[in-house]
Amino acid sequence: MNPSDPIPTTHDSRPIGVFDSGLGGLTAVRELFRTLPGESVVYFGDTARLPYGSKSRDTVTRFSLEIAAFLVRQDIKCLVVACNTASSYALEALVRTLDVPVVGVIDPAVRAALELSPRRRIGVIGTLGTVGSGAYARVVESLAPDARVLSHACPLFVPLIEEGWVDHPVTRMVAQEYLAELSSGGLDTLILGCTHYPLIAPLIAELMGPEVRLIDSGAEAARAIAALLRERGQLSSRDPEHRFYLTDEPRNFARVARAFLGRELPPTTIVDQTDQPWFERLPAR
Ligand code: DGL
Repeated sequence: MNPSDPIPTTHDSRPIGVFDSGLGGLTAVRELFRTLPGESVVYFGDTARLPYGSKSRDTVTRFSLEIAAFLVRQDIKCLVVACNTASSYALEALVRTLDVPVVGVIDPAVRAALELSPRRRIGVIGTLGTVGSGAYARVVESLAPDARVLSHACPLFVPLIEEGWVDHPVTRMVAQEYLAELSSGGLDTLILGCTHYPLIAPLIAELMGPEVRLIDSGAEAARAIAALLRERGQLSSRDPEHRFYLTDEPRNFARVARAFLGRELPPTTIVDQTDQPWFERLPAR
């Protein structure tokens, strides 16, 4: 279907669930608002427990399953895992556990990269968790065994971006250091494998040079969910109603949210996201 075709009038007015470790996943919501203006979104940002990028697979998977259970109780029709680290570690567990379709960022980003990679040389940058998991490389390998992947973890980008140092000499120096090897790697695409990196895309593009196309993984996931809902006849064209849940209200959250969403964040609800709070659970043996 062509994106300019009118949206068919099939209806499933249940909301799309989107979650991230924090506010970065709002970049995917921004794209959802743009491509599917009739859809309601329930967003969950685990601001109390972020960052996920330096946590273990088991912890990120547990957090992801807890959040998914919360969102399923909000009667979502599908789930977008906007967090790259959660997509890297927890996607299989989520797909296995949930009855609604689950879309992570990795598969859509890799498919977009392959379309734009004539020489099949794909770069990936992300958190320590995302890069260390090898999840992107595995999906590339399964879809295009002839492709070559070069990856690099860029853990300092998230705090720098949250500090608002998007156009700042320190961020430029850090980026030069992180991207040195990739920029001489003959890449034709670079996947921004972290929710935050689209905010410094101009700097990354400048350092990588004009031959390297950047892929925004959150936006690709939003486009993939749009295609899936169209295919399943599950689009909504009702007046959308959005809900935003956070596990904490960090001091700078309004500014950070605005940067990711591209507009003021509507009112948020702070929740305790677990089915059963940790202090009520039996200790694991
Ligand atoms: N949302 C995370 C990701 O895309 C970045 C922030 C974090 O480490 O929690 O991997």
